[in-house]
Amino acid sequence: PLVTTGELVARAAAAHSAVPSFNIITLEHIEAVIAGAEAAQAAVVLQVSENAVKFRYGRLLPLARAAVAAAERATIPVALHLDHVQSDDLLRQAADAGFSSVMYDAARLPYERNLAATRAAADWAHAQGLWIEAELGQVGGKAGQPALDAHAPGARTDPDQARAFVADSGVDALAVAIGSTHAMTTRTATLDHTLLKRLSAALDVPLVLHGSSGVPDHELVAAVAGGISKVNIGTALNIAMTGAIRDFLAAHPEAVDSRKYLGVGREAMVRTVTGIIRTLT
Ligand code: G3H
Ligand code: ZN
Repeated sequence: PLVTTGELVARAAAAHSAVPSFNIITLEHIEAVIAGAEAAQAAVVLQVSENAVKFRYGRLLPLARAAVAAAERATIPVALHLDHVQSDDLLRQAADAGFSSVMYDAARLPYERNLAATRAAADWAHAQGLWIEAELGQVGGKAGQPALDAHAPGARTDPDQARAFVADSGVDALAVAIGSTHAMTTRTATLDHTLLKRLSAALDVPLVLHGSSGVPDHELVAAVAGGISKVNIGTALNIAMTGAIRDFLAAHPEAVDSRKYLGVGREAMVRTVTGIIRTLT
């Protein structure tokens, strides 16, 4: 069934576990995430990023409608989350499209502007009954973003600043920069667990890990133990899907039916989803 992100994250935080949150781009992603979560018998968040909406010719509704329909028929709880939203126009479509939560991403802005934009987004979101996540400190590596030095001061979330940011913006959860980077194709990130411990002690809202595809299993497990309650995974699905399709087409140069290779790609994503959920839960 379709549930809310807020309830899944609250339940995970209370149990010292994390909600696996997967980025969806195609119908195959939706089906694979739900099938993988059903196999692992775990609740899951389907998240649509602003970049994914841009890929869908700027239209949110077709993918959102498919996700809602799939979630309603799932045998495990599924929530819908709008991810990395920078555009106010997209933010305002969230509730009507079936999303119970949004991640408002103004982390590229200097502190005061990030805070002012996030506070306005949070006020609007709460008036709609939406749960809202924001980011402080920058998890670099997003498509179209300049490369960020992982050791630059802005690439880490400062605990004191984070406490003020959460109090002054009123957000429900915070994405923290502790060493992961978006779009990594190797699982070689090392996380700053001392910083995570300080953030977790300083904040009374759930913490979110972005760029989790590049984080190895043992680091993910340690991050959840250290206070991460929502784990965002995107690139790992694309690696699985694209690799499987590439191998299939190389072995079957005569193939023309798109169901053949999309099916292989979807099955590879199912295995990845199940594997990640088993690591997290
Ligand atoms: O918000 C989405 C995630 O941060 C995904 O990051 O594609 O590096 O796994 P990833
Ligand atoms: Zn992210």
